[in-house]
Amino acid sequence: MTKTSTLLGKPINRVDGRLKVTGEAKYAAEFNAPGLTYGYVVSGAIARGRIKKLDTSAALAVPGVLHVFTHENRPRLAWFDRNYQDEDAPSGSPFRPLHDDEIVYSGQPIALVVAETLEVARYAASLVQVEYKLHSHETDLRARRGKAYAPGEGKGGFEPPPKPRGQADKALANAAARVDAEYSSPVEHHNPMEPHATTVVYEDDGTLTVYDKTQGVMNTQKYVSKVFHLSPEEVRVRSPFVGGAFGSGLRPQYQLFLAVMAARELKRSVRVALTRQQMFTFGHRPTTLQRVALGASAEGKLEAVIHETVSETSRFEDYIEVIVNWSGLLYQCDNVRLDYKVAQLDTYTPIDMRAPGATVGVYALECAMDELAYAVGIDPLELRLKNYAERDQNEDKPFSSKELWACYQQGAERFGWAKRTPAPRSMREGKQLIGWGMATGVWEAMQQPASAKAVLSIDGKLTVSSATADIGTGTYTVMTQIAAETLGLPVEDVTFKLGDSSLPMSPLEGGSWTVSSVGSAVKAACETVRERLFELARKVKDSPLAKARLDEVSFAGGHIRSKEDPSRAVSITAAMRHGEVLHLEEQTVSLPDKHKQSAYTLCTHSAVFVEVKVDEDFGTVKVTRVVSAIAGGRVLNPKTARSQILGGIVWGLGMALEEESVLDQKLGRFMNHNLAEYHVPVNADVQDIEVLFVEEEDTIVNPLGAKGLGEIGIVGVAAAIANAIFHATGKRVRDLPITPDKLL
Ligand code: MOS
Repeated sequence: MTKTSTLLGKPINRVDGRLKVTGEAKYAAEFNAPGLTYGYVVSGAIARGRIKKLDTSAALAVPGVLHVFTHENRPRLAWFDRNYQDEDAPSGSPFRPLHDDEIVYSGQPIALVVAETLEVARYAASLVQVEYKLHSHETDLRARRGKAYAPGEGKGGFEPPPKPRGQADKALANAAARVDAEYSSPVEHHNPMEPHATTVVYEDDGTLTVYDKTQGVMNTQKYVSKVFHLSPEEVRVRSPFVGGAFGSGLRPQYQLFLAVMAARELKRSVRVALTRQQMFTFGHRPTTLQRVALGASAEGKLEAVIHETVSETSRFEDYIEVIVNWSGLLYQCDNVRLDYKVAQLDTYTPIDMRAPGATVGVYALECAMDELAYAVGIDPLELRLKNYAERDQNEDKPFSSKELWACYQQGAERFGWAKRTPAPRSMREGKQLIGWGMATGVWEAMQQPASAKAVLSIDGKLTVSSATADIGTGTYTVMTQIAAETLGLPVEDVTFKLGDSSLPMSPLEGGSWTVSSVGSAVKAACETVRERLFELARKVKDSPLAKARLDEVSFAGGHIRSKEDPSRAVSITAAMRHGEVLHLEEQTVSLPDKHKQSAYTLCTHSAVFVEVKVDEDFGTVKVTRVVSAIAGGRVLNPKTARSQILGGIVWGLGMALEEESVLDQKLGRFMNHNLAEYHVPVNADVQDIEVLFVEEEDTIVNPLGAKGLGEIGIVGVAAAIANAIFHATGKRVRDLPITPDKLL
């Protein structure tokens, strides 16, 4: 009978956990259809040039091969760029698979072999002979630096960094303490466990059911409709489970195009799954070169912040990230100059990867802050506290809420930061150099329009749905909790459906906005059902609630009860039976309250504390302890929330120490395109990680007060590790990843 929530905030298990561990959860490449055929992609071998000759005769001669699609025999398709531009497309001309003979990046799909079996398709693909005309390419960002430009000026809706405030260069020159350094971060590829795949089921009536690995079924549906001139009714997209994506599923990838094209032409069901190697042949986290210059007073008050970044884009699209803006927001400083440019390389267009922009930008800023702490001669945490921003100076707005101070305090306390001895190489255990480092993290709290439908049936079972995704984040679970909580039902009586374009409209699952956006819609839809149910309960013959108001009753255990006198109750079943309704169905659209939100800056924050042990002889680094304190608003499920942050921290570890897609500049090609040579953290790399959530109340971000936790977990982690390595070794490595060779 209490007003406080019973379900929200509880660490309930994933409602889809059982399906996942028993293999019942089906992924895009696991759906079957009678007569299914298999497409295998032939990837181009050069970075730039033309296809002089493409000989498919040997491939076609293999028994079981149905067709080899190339630019020479592909069907005519949509012409305008806008048809290929998806919800996440930057400005420019999206890549069109098999469009013509031009090669614009290494690994570009140049043919699709379709056969009765995967083995035959794969074998036949190896027989496709290609002759190229080579053109010179440029894939080295350092070499192209002089050609960098401010992207999308006046187009694509990109807002350049905030205008300079004060006189940063002058303030830097006059500062008592100064840091001026260049940091770099390499290309990273997403490498989700599940490679990208699409199974297109060619239905009897010629319509398509498309099982796609995607973070947005509606995005996929719109793309397919527009490119292939189909009505939305002719394309149903489903994606009930996604084995990780991290941003790689925000845009339709080429296997989708190829599978749909083949199915339409052959009038057969077709599956195209990319190999692990081919997972390195589309979007990636762009490489960056970043200059950060900080000036401070002798006491450590920030007097100048300069952050200039050059990042990469492709020749065909202007991919942009908010990399430098955080440096004008995170600390109080009156003299700030931020600059962001991109240079075009002969690679595929980069794509969002977990906390795009912040991950790399805050890395550079937070390492520079550590360097400044040493230059001033104060503790790195004290430097942050001294320059704490109570207000967003970029926008000149207050924060809707900001419990970063509590993150610093609780994180430091839990970690034992006070016991740190400041001098590098001052904490050792034999040959192991021990280092303690810390950094701040920040990300946006965003909300998008979203819709949800709630259907309550007379037996008290509730089904709620929205065309969103669960990429491992816990969407199924948290939406179920929100719905169950709102109608006072046990979790077992609630089903949440997602990943189907026939469901109510949802934005892409990205930007950490799914709980905020879809969760708000789920809550609103269930609240409307609640109101209707209450009306029915009041009208029941001799209803004990006839005179009650909605705020005077509670919904729990399938009953509506007077809070004052719990004996006065009406069951859901009785209310609906009396009202002669079998189902109560409500669909709502939930929009961000722009008016309320625009007066504030909405952010999540973190404070990350790290211990490393560096082997003095071998330069190997072990991250032995991490404490991350998170301020992300209300935590709806501490278990799934913790998993989100854990995953981010582990990735931060990979970013700091291991991950790098290595380009052979001569070939213009990523060489370590496999999980043997593209290193990601394994179990042995992951030691003691602790996640703390600090209390943070926020009534501005959305009706749930939850800010979103998908991305904040990674931000700041690489910097904290780099800073810990400096503390351990006295060596400042500014170019990620910090591999042993750089420490020897
Ligand atoms: Mo996220 S990079 O918006 O999937």
